[in-house]
Amino acid sequence: MRIRIDEIARKALFLTDPEQAHGLSIKALKTGLVPGAPAPADPRLRQTIAGLAFPNPIGLAAGYDKNAEVPEALLKLGFGFTEVGTLTPKPQAGNPKPRIFRLVADEAVINRLGFNNEGHAPALERLKACTRGGLIGVNIGANKDSADRIDDYVQGIRTFAGVASYFTVNISSPNTPGLRDLQARESLGALLSAVLAARDGEVGAGARKVPVFLKIAPDLSEEGMDDIAAEALAHPLDGLIVSNTTLSRDGLRDVRQAGEAGGLSGKPLFAASTIVLAKMRRRLGPGLPIIGVGGVHNLETAVAKIEAGADLVQLYSGMVYQGPSLPGRIVRGLSKLCDARGLTSIRELRNSQTDHWAAKA
Ligand code: FNR
Repeated sequence: MRIRIDEIARKALFLTDPEQAHGLSIKALKTGLVPGAPAPADPRLRQTIAGLAFPNPIGLAAGYDKNAEVPEALLKLGFGFTEVGTLTPKPQAGNPKPRIFRLVADEAVINRLGFNNEGHAPALERLKACTRGGLIGVNIGANKDSADRIDDYVQGIRTFAGVASYFTVNISSPNTPGLRDLQARESLGALLSAVLAARDGEVGAGARKVPVFLKIAPDLSEEGMDDIAAEALAHPLDGLIVSNTTLSRDGLRDVRQAGEAGGLSGKPLFAASTIVLAKMRRRLGPGLPIIGVGGVHNLETAVAKIEAGADLVQLYSGMVYQGPSLPGRIVRGLSKLCDARGLTSIRELRNSQTDHWAAKA
């Protein structure tokens, strides 16, 4: 019965404008009525990454809970961690609507939201009120009209250090003009120096340094990947998130929506983002944590991210098409996989297919 209600609710949401549907789903989570199906705790799925104890490796990616309205309700769906944001210091409206498009035939989404968010202050108050102790990352960005973008990230670190489990420095949204230029070597070096110095100057909850992850685009040349790897290794960064949405429109079936400007996510992003993940793993060696994201929509795609080199996995668009029971289903599937293969830790799968994925075009 639960599954049917879930199914009917999702079909109804699909008749609604995507941004309104998103708002309705946040409201439903606030009421506590969304039927999640969290998996039982499994010690084989537990990992300590960047000093944080992740109960399972499946997280919700940034962009769904931009304003930190429902992080604890999302964790109750079975995610091992969630990420709020992207948050910018000042509130901003983002781009004109419509700005989210479903490509149903491709199980994909195009968005050009442009960092619409309420700004730091309200999100900080909501995060201070979180009491259940789950892992909640804070994804930080820069205002579109900022005179000093690096300072916007530094402000993010200073504001949220007491409440963030980890930070994500997002320099890979395609919807803020010029933002991806921060991935270029010199700008990236300056950004990481400033952000990590600010982090070192702030003491997080429990007197710890808050880990900082850098979130990159999938649309990178080999030289671009070399530069990011060099800077990531030259600074005390805690890990990478690979990847954000893509500007590519290769292989889409929904040609009507494919012409919309913005970042593409969902199934068509899976291969491209997994290849960049494997290529970055090869460049970084086994030590630096990587969160793999892009097109994860079932157990197989989650496992493929780990095999390509990911320590942890995130998803967003998959839940739009598969519903809120998806994280629980994947986590249960991971436990069954451990049973079937006799694994004592899911980590044993990590990097087993890195060369295979890195060899792809
Ligand atoms: C996103 N994503 C995103 N990422 C980010 O770092 N900050 C953000 O504010 C947003 N906003 C956002 C809005 C919408 C509507 C979507 C669909 C996506 C990107 C997201 O976190 C993720 O990196 C990509 O969507 C790829 O993963 P999936 O969706 O294919 O699982």
